[in-house]
Amino acid sequence: MAGKAAARTETLVTLDAMRQEVAACTLCHELATTRTQTVFGVGNPQARLCFLGEAPGADEDRQGEPFVGRAGKLLTDIIQKGMGLDRSDVYILNILKCRPPGNRNPAPEEAANCRGFLDRQLAAIAPEFLCCLGAVAAHNLLEVNTPIGRMRGDWFDYQGIRVMCTYHPAYLLRNPAAKEDTWEDIQMLMGEMGLEKPARR
Ligand code: URA
Ligand code: URA
Repeated sequence: MAGKAAARTETLVTLDAMRQEVAACTLCHELATTRTQTVFGVGNPQARLCFLGEAPGADEDRQGEPFVGRAGKLLTDIIQKGMGLDRSDVYILNILKCRPPGNRNPAPEEAANCRGFLDRQLAAIAPEFLCCLGAVAAHNLLEVNTPIGRMRGDWFDYQGIRVMCTYHPAYLLRNPAAKEDTWEDIQMLMGEMGLEKPARR
């Protein structure tokens, strides 16, 4: 027990130091000069499961936390109502820690600049499972170009982490019919994690 608490504290300290490094980062001139603040990540430092998104949007840039806008509310529902977990049980992070102006896609050099932070976050948290939300997250993490619809249902490996991919919650808001597909993906994930379906969704 003491060992587990000590390990959690150590990871918290590591992540907190990294959070300060991220906050001071100016590698991407445009992002560093247009952001309100950096958006590092949130959740359990010892999470078994990470959710990986693309980049902060306007709400996240304002609040400093990933997935707090409309898409974030849907992600929270997936975690809490769908999986029966608490948002604070998992860890949520993005490919980019800064908001791209106008919510454009991350530029390849921006993703490359931010990659060290992502890799170090994942190394510190050491999750067993990672769910990529949408094509940008999946393609950047795994360095592939396969359409997201064809990546669904498969397992990938990233640095020993078991990775699966589903649609981005913002896509689900625009295309509610695809929610069924994401629910299938989440059930596949829950099965591998040994999680029981909550009694009521
Ligand atoms: N979309 C993302 O990909 N990440 C966020 O944090 C918010 C919206
Ligand atoms: N295209 C994307 O980029 N992401 C999705 O989640 C779905 C389609």
